[in-house]
Amino acid sequence: MPHPCTQTMTSVAVTVRGVSYAYGEGAARKTVLDEVDLTLRRGEFAVLTGHSGAGKTTLLTLIGAIRSLQQGQINVLGFNLAGRGAIAQEQVRRQIGFIFQDHNLFSALSAFRTLWLTSGLSPSPPSRQEALSRATALLEALGMGSYLHSMPGQLSTGQKQRIAVARALMNTPQLILGDEPTAALDHDASMLVISLIRQHLTTNGASALIVTHDDRIFPMADRVLYLRDGRLVNAA
Ligand SMILES: Nc1ncnc2c1ncn2[C@@H]1O[C@H](COP(=O)(O)OP(=O)(O)O)[C@@H](O)[C@H]1O
Ligand SMILES: [Mg+2]
Repeated sequence: MPHPCTQTMTSVAVTVRGVSYAYGEGAARKTVLDEVDLTLRRGEFAVLTGHSGAGKTTLLTLIGAIRSLQQGQINVLGFNLAGRGAIAQEQVRRQIGFIFQDHNLFSALSAFRTLWLTSGLSPSPPSRQEALSRATALLEALGMGSYLHSMPGQLSTGQKQRIAVARALMNTPQLILGDEPTAALDHDASMLVISLIRQHLTTNGASALIVTHDDRIFPMADRVLYLRDGRLVNAA
């Protein structure tokens, strides 16, 4: 039987403890996060909401090792982020499927090239043929099957957002962080995205923390977290 501590550690995907964050210096300094605590269990699908400017993107980018910690501790998939250098942070980022608020696609890369290049960052990169079949399956599941070779400039914002979702899932990450991944999508496309993420969690035991204002997604989550006045409500 595993030691109880080991069991506890492996059942947790993310812990955030006493994390505070401020922008600006001197009189312009503004605290955005104030001693935030959060525990995300393995397999859990949590939604993070709160008003615009509440600090949701700041918190998500800290957890995703895209922004460096100022104060507090974050552990992601067994990696302690505090005091890590750029190379170590890059290692953590490779374990995470991050969906950016503004999709962040390269304009010179087709949907398939984006997914194929992403697969090259995987710890065990697939063959081109394997990448092609995975990319095709992901895009079909997102209602984007006929856009495999489209360039971002030929796509609507909502279509670009779905390519970004496929990119985040491409390497079967243990953690998905999504920053308003359905903001540009209609109801049906939003449901496709959320269902695909849920299915990914069930199949792979992965976890997701999704920032959204869309209350139609709330009933599909295991837990809804509210960020208010720099603090998370009922999150630890
Ligand atoms: N780079 C930055 N420099 C200064 N202030 C920032 C910066 N990024 C965000 N902020 C401010 O921090 C607050 C939280 O921003 P953000 O985390 O983007 O909130 P949310 O994602 O909940 O809308 C906002 O008031 C925003 O204006
Ligand atoms: Mg935001």
